[in-house]
Amino acid sequence: MGRAEVFDTAGPQPRHVAIIMDGNGRWATRRGLPRLEGHRRGVETVRQIVEACPDFGIEFLTLYAFSSENWKRSAEEVAGLMGLFRRYFRKEAANLVKRGARVKFIGDRTELAQDIQDMMASLETQSAANEKLTIVIALNYGGREEIARAARRLAAEVADGSRSLDDVNEASIGAALDAPGTPDPDLVIRTSGEQRISNFLLWQCAYAEFLFVDELWPDFNRDAFARALAVFGARERRFGAVAG
Ligand code: FPP
Repeated sequence: MGRAEVFDTAGPQPRHVAIIMDGNGRWATRRGLPRLEGHRRGVETVRQIVEACPDFGIEFLTLYAFSSENWKRSAEEVAGLMGLFRRYFRKEAANLVKRGARVKFIGDRTELAQDIQDMMASLETQSAANEKLTIVIALNYGGREEIARAARRLAAEVADGSRSLDDVNEASIGAALDAPGTPDPDLVIRTSGEQRISNFLLWQCAYAEFLFVDELWPDFNRDAFARALAVFGARERRFGAVAG
């Protein structure tokens, strides 16, 4: 399906879309299935959305895969999710690289199992030269923690004299975040009807448009994505200026 067939291309399109993939557990529970089955179906949706991005002119896609709060889930669910990440990185890596995607990770990776950290590093290295689509995966991620990490990096440079205090500003803080060089998201989508930011990209979302859709993540698909993009295209973004 081509881009023009699914939504009106007249409106502006987002360059960077960030997604809070919510509702996997409810999707499974409603069907009497274990929660992990919802996450498995969620991976299918990830595949579909990644595939659709280049058709929709999207250059950056950020996915909230595991928050720093998600460790509070049952040990079984956490282990199941880690298993899904392992499988996805192992199975999809070559495919993503072949299709021209660059993969980056944000979050505190030091708390993840060593084999997962190794797969993440290898995926980043293998895909570093790709330019068609950048996929940013937020794994053990929290927005406040990311800002605190950036503050620590800059503070250390001020302390050792390599940075002046005047050089701590919006640009240098942005550049000290986990994925420097990534433009701010234009559109943040959250599925499952919940209307919260949940510690996601707090610094980067300063001027983002938000869209809360009712579909549970496993039910979200290419058409729902196209509808979300059409809503974005119809909105007027002012960045603090007066309407024209
Ligand atoms: C939220 O649903 C979803 C998650 C915490 C996990 C998201 C992970 C995936 C979709 C798997 C793979 C991702 C990648 C990038 C390979 P929930 O469990 O909070 O749902 P609920 O609110 O209905 O309980």
